[in-house]
Amino acid sequence: MRAAIAERTRKYRSRYEQFGLLYSALAPMRYLATVAARRLDETSDSIEAQLLKIEGAQGVLGPAHRAYSGHSAGENRAIWSAWDWSQRGDEWNDTDEPEQWKATLVDEVLLSNIGDARAILEIGPGGGRWSEVLQPLAERLVLVDVTQRALELCKERLGDGANVDYVLSEGGAIPAVEDASIDFVWSFDVFVHIAPLDVDSYIAEVARVLRPGGTAVIHHSGRLQRFPGWRSPMTALLFAQLARERGLEVARQFDSWSNGRFGVRTNDDVITVLRAPEG
Ligand SMILES: C[S@@+](CC[C@H](N)C(=O)[O-])C[C@H]1O[C@@H](n2cnc3c(N)ncnc32)[C@H](O)[C@@H]1O
Repeated sequence: MRAAIAERTRKYRSRYEQFGLLYSALAPMRYLATVAARRLDETSDSIEAQLLKIEGAQGVLGPAHRAYSGHSAGENRAIWSAWDWSQRGDEWNDTDEPEQWKATLVDEVLLSNIGDARAILEIGPGGGRWSEVLQPLAERLVLVDVTQRALELCKERLGDGANVDYVLSEGGAIPAVEDASIDFVWSFDVFVHIAPLDVDSYIAEVARVLRPGGTAVIHHSGRLQRFPGWRSPMTALLFAQLARERGLEVARQFDSWSNGRFGVRTNDDVITVLRAPEG
C-alpha cells in the first residue's frame, strides 16, 4: 500500500514537472473517476460477473470461465494485425519513466530468471521489444504469435538470424515445439489479453515444452474487469492453480520490482514465475 502511494505520488510529481499545474490537478480526479468506474463494474450484478468473481476467488476454472467468450484468438488476431506498430511495443512502457521501467524489467524480471537458458520460447512477441533482448542470449529462440504481422515485424527487427524460429499459433497451442525442448519461456503483455481457456491451454503447453528445471515468466491479468487495459478475467490464485494442475511449481507471484518503484499494478496485473520440476 505504502509503495503504491509512493509510486502514485512520484507519478503526480513527474506529471506536474512535465505538464504543469492544471494537468496535475486534473490527474487525481481522473484517477478517482477510474476507481469509481471500476467499483461500479465490480458491483455489476451481471450473473457472468458474479460467477467469474466466485470462481476466480476460489481458483477454479469453472463454467463461467469456460463459457467466457471475450478475448478470443480471432479477436486478438484482428486487433493486433491492424495495430499501428510504429513504436514496436514501446508505447506500453510505463509512461513516466519509460526507459528505466523497461531497463529494470529486463534486468530484474527477465535476466534474473533466465539463468543459462539456451533454448528460449517467447509467446506473443509483437514488435519484438523483448525478443531483441532474448535473441543474443539464445542458441534457439522460438517466437510464437497469433498474427503473421507480429512475426514479420520480429523478422525485420532481428534479421534472418539462423537461431530464430517463427511460429504462427492458432491461439492456445504450439504443436511445432517439441516436448521438453525449452529452458526458458517469456511472455509479457499477452496473457493479459487472452481468454481463460487459452491461458489454460498455453499453461499446459508450457508444462509440456519445458525441460525439467526450466523456468517460465508470464505476465497475466489479475482481475475480472475488462477496463482499463482490455484485461481478460484471471486471478493470481486461478493462474497458480492452473499451473499446479499441469504439474508446474509456482516459484513466485509479484506485481512490482526495484523495491516497488516500478510495476504492473496500474492494471492490477501479476507476474508469475513457474518452474518445471527437476526430473
Ligand atoms: C499487446 S501486444 C504485446 C507484444 C509484446 N509482447 C510486447 O510486450 O511488446 C500482444 C501480442 O500478443 C499476441 N497475441 C495475442 N493473443 C495471442 C495468442 N492467443 N497467442 C499468441 N500470441 C497472441 C498479439 O498478436 C501481439 O503480438
